[in-house]
Amino acid sequence: MYRSVTCGQLRMTDVNSSAVLAGWVQRIRKMGGMTFVDLRDRYGITQLVFNNDVDAALCDAANKLGREYVIQVTGTVRERYNKNRNIPTGDIEIEVNSLNILSTSDTPPFTIEDDSDGGDDLRMQYRYLDLRRDCVRKNLELRHKLAFEVRRYLDSQNFLEIETPILIKSTPEGARDFVVPSRMNPGEFYALPQSPQTFKQLLMVSGFDRYFQIAKCFRDEDLRADRQPEFTQIDCEMSFVEQEDVLAIFEGMVKHVFKEIKGVEFEGEFPRMTWHDAMKYYGSDKPDIRFGMRFVEMKELTGGKNFAVFDSAEYVGGIVAQGCAAYSRKQIDELTEFVKRPQIGAKGLVYVKCEENGAYKSSVDKFYSQDDLACWAKECGANPGDLILILAGKKTATQKALCELRLEMGNRLGLRDKNTFAPLWVVDFPLLEWDEETQRYYAMHHPFTAPKPEDIPLLDTDPGAVRANAYDMVFNGVELGGGSIRIHDSGLQDKMFEVLGFTHEQAQYQFGFLMDAFKYGAPPHGGLAFGLDRFVSLLAGLDSIRDCIAFPKNNSGRDTMSGAPSILDDSQLKELQIKLDLQHPEAK
Ligand code: AMO
Repeated sequence: MYRSVTCGQLRMTDVNSSAVLAGWVQRIRKMGGMTFVDLRDRYGITQLVFNNDVDAALCDAANKLGREYVIQVTGTVRERYNKNRNIPTGDIEIEVNSLNILSTSDTPPFTIEDDSDGGDDLRMQYRYLDLRRDCVRKNLELRHKLAFEVRRYLDSQNFLEIETPILIKSTPEGARDFVVPSRMNPGEFYALPQSPQTFKQLLMVSGFDRYFQIAKCFRDEDLRADRQPEFTQIDCEMSFVEQEDVLAIFEGMVKHVFKEIKGVEFEGEFPRMTWHDAMKYYGSDKPDIRFGMRFVEMKELTGGKNFAVFDSAEYVGGIVAQGCAAYSRKQIDELTEFVKRPQIGAKGLVYVKCEENGAYKSSVDKFYSQDDLACWAKECGANPGDLILILAGKKTATQKALCELRLEMGNRLGLRDKNTFAPLWVVDFPLLEWDEETQRYYAMHHPFTAPKPEDIPLLDTDPGAVRANAYDMVFNGVELGGGSIRIHDSGLQDKMFEVLGFTHEQAQYQFGFLMDAFKYGAPPHGGLAFGLDRFVSLLAGLDSIRDCIAFPKNNSGRDTMSGAPSILDDSQLKELQIKLDLQHPEAK
């Protein structure tokens, strides 16, 4: 063994014992005839001392060490004169009597500290060094713990972990597939799974009535802070269940994880909200309910006073920012600029300040009397000292913009504390979504999602009004997981494909294997999948899921460390019988 203890292990009780340590050189300080070296490993930091008066040659060797050298030392544990209360080993130090350099290091391109001087790109390029930083390593430790607790809970509930293939048939699920050419079958391609959806349903047909998998999923979609092209799901499916059974099991799993990892216990059942209410009151299917500020519909209240913006709008909605009536001109201008950003898209912002003296000051004073504004304030539940912010326009777009404004105000007012956890089940999603561009319905979740039995007749008359047995778990405005009860009746599945505009042949080509399986006794089943990366980010209070992924991709889907994706050489392409039409610029 290269070491007898780790760098996080020794305490006052070990004083006078001898120890062998190995690790990386974090810092070297020379003070008079003494040299101090901070030695780091995964477990912590231990201070090493080299005394020139005791062993000049050894001290000289220590002075020549560089940052990130890997060394092994033998020495005696001593009580420290200047104790460091910030680290668990801060009471002791090692009086070194032998030093062995195991590996030298070039000067690292950034400091290996929590507050590193390395920018994002540099840290990603040298991710193996970035991972040495305490703050990043902790996220991976948490990720391990989460996966471990999930397995422990699901095992206790009789779930079996079963792997499903990575090279599969392309069955589009919403995002674009990543595809892989098959050398043995020229001209044909595998797809990487967007999720194990069809396979887990097949496992239900096979009788594995409780399945789970911590599964890699691949989606070729535009990236965001909470989206990576390859990510991990806690993917689950159960047989002989209804929606309530699924929600109960997985609410239990989430509560177990929070208790074990964060020591947080939730009282009672998680609240539930219909998709319809989520859109109406928060303009989002994943509302952040850590704070109120619910939307108030103001179209009727504001109409008929010759204010063309409101009169001509399909939707007028407001929110109340408590205690913000004293906002300055500059602050209001900032908010107006915020809602006018192209990605938010509002044309302007109307405000009403409910002043402490009972008067109202508004950007639309010209059109509305004090009585009108008092009436708005009453309807909105605004009190003296509050600020009402109002947007108007097309319904869906305006609700989306108001949602962004609400979240922005939540941030400004400090209402989105990362240590407050607000779970919510969003239920009763619509089954279908109409797409104007292609003039057809798409499955809001996926084509196997079951409609609510009482809504089935509407499939013929008003498909857009059909509600699904689908549910999402939302935490603090993030969609943590989602799933549904599936269709297990082939007649209903055929009907669903018909509504989605698939011909029988198309449905058979894409999903025939699943449809065929359903002819051999399919149990009623349903399930859901959680985003593991999002779950870790939530628990760790991270801004981006990249911070809990060992080797993430950047926003252009690149791994800047290894250089993926990269071009293939001619012989590889030839073997695959692939000719490129559009040459990669670098290939020229
Ligand atoms: P869905 O597409 O909602 O459902 O995905 C489930 C969960 O996976 C996470 N997630 C992602 N995380 C990081 N990066 C991404 N690009 C990404 N996309 C999704 C989210 C999401 O809630 N097969 C169904 C589940 C089912 O019906 O059982 C599915 O994949 O946290």
